[in-house]
Amino acid sequence: MSGIILDIVELLLTAEIYNRYPELDVNDLPKNIRKSYWSSTEKTVPKPIIASFVRLEKLYGIKDIEKSVRNVPFITIDRAHFELRLSAFELAAEWFEKQEGYQERIENNPVLAYYFGEIRKVEAANYAAAKAKIRPKEVDREWIESLIAEIRKEDKSEEMLKLVVIIAPEDVKQKVRDLVLTEEQQDEIEKIMKAIQHREYLWEIGLHDIGKLLFVGPPGTGKTSVARALSEQLSIPFVEVKLSMITDQYLGETAKNIDRVFLLAKKLNPCILFIDELDFVAKARTSDENAAIKRAVNTLLKAIDEISLVEHGVLLIAATNHPRMLDSAAWRRFDEIVHFPLPDLEMRKNILDIVTRHIEGDLDTKEIAELTEGYSGSDLRMVIREAVLSALLEERKILTQQDLLEAVKSFDERADLKSDEYRGKNSS
Ligand SMILES: Nc1ncnc2c1ncn2[C@@H]1O[C@H](COP(=O)(O)OP(=O)(O)OP(=O)(O)O)[C@@H](O)[C@H]1O
Ligand SMILES: [Mg+2]
Repeated sequence: MSGIILDIVELLLTAEIYNRYPELDVNDLPKNIRKSYWSSTEKTVPKPIIASFVRLEKLYGIKDIEKSVRNVPFITIDRAHFELRLSAFELAAEWFEKQEGYQERIENNPVLAYYFGEIRKVEAANYAAAKAKIRPKEVDREWIESLIAEIRKEDKSEEMLKLVVIIAPEDVKQKVRDLVLTEEQQDEIEKIMKAIQHREYLWEIGLHDIGKLLFVGPPGTGKTSVARALSEQLSIPFVEVKLSMITDQYLGETAKNIDRVFLLAKKLNPCILFIDELDFVAKARTSDENAAIKRAVNTLLKAIDEISLVEHGVLLIAATNHPRMLDSAAWRRFDEIVHFPLPDLEMRKNILDIVTRHIEGDLDTKEIAELTEGYSGSDLRMVIREAVLSALLEERKILTQQDLLEAVKSFDERADLKSDEYRGKNSS
């Protein structure tokens, strides 16, 4: 019962303080409150916010609100508007301070931390610390949805939107900590984080052409995963485009599509624009010396040239499996080339440890790592999946080393089969 009252009082105090202090903005609200009050037309949480019955039910699942607060002296029930109000703000704050769980709530609510720390000078309340814990509004699905709603109002926007996949950071499943990275990859990630943090400084000193990365490496080595994990880590939306997707069957549209995608990324800023299959243009160019393709390639190169992290808030990441297909005109446009090699022994062991960490069984991942030279991270995942499924066929959820060894064996056999087929085709 008191948990419910505490929820209600927290919301009432948060609303009152948020409405009262102009220095507090949307990024001071705890995530659940922010999402609940989000206005997609205004792209913020407009003041004032009010604790209506509907809101309380949605946020905390409280059904019988009147009954819950009947005996709380500092809350008034506005039956005409189905709202709750604080009749005595100071009293409510004093009451709140004495409740168990108060400390934890303040630590996770910058609005409250601001009031109790900065205004009431309660020593245990730390506004900066609470603020550091809250991720900005750009991680929310609601943020993306309001941006998209706004773009939809414009002419030709549908064509633009259907070319890309947009993901909110809170929906990104890949986390940087779950990826096994080389030192070079770690350094690059650190650098980019710094660049984003110090965007204004870079702008001031005239370093505008920073923030274009090219990820190079064989399939399944984590290029897409790292790009997505960066979006999660940096709390900025992820905009993905596959070049094969925008190379319209009517080639004439391709150049226009490229412009559309870059325009969209600028509208969605800050964001990551991930261009997958960058080699696709190169491939298209060599196979057919078509004027439309040439135009498309030039458009793409020009668009890459013109977009800037510092100026437009767009971090550009392109990926390719076929670096040899790219010519120097393409290479030159990226300020950092990040290599994604096939994992070495130690990396393979670390990847296996991550993939098997929730799996029961006495497993020697080192032995498997030694047997899997030449495997990509994605191959290793497939081996583990295979082992898990085979065990499930025998109604087992505890894995044995034998399961893993057999999965490696069957993976190798399949790989041999594939290369045989390939050889067969080539020789005929
Ligand atoms: N270094 C790694 N650490 C952890 N997991 C990895 C690593 N490399 C690959 N994986 C796993 O393999 C799977 C495939 O990786 P991903 O799709 O990122 O590869 P990619 O390089 O984008 O491949 P492609 O070139 O085919 O698009 C993912 O589930 C990812 O988690
Ligand atoms: Mg990929």
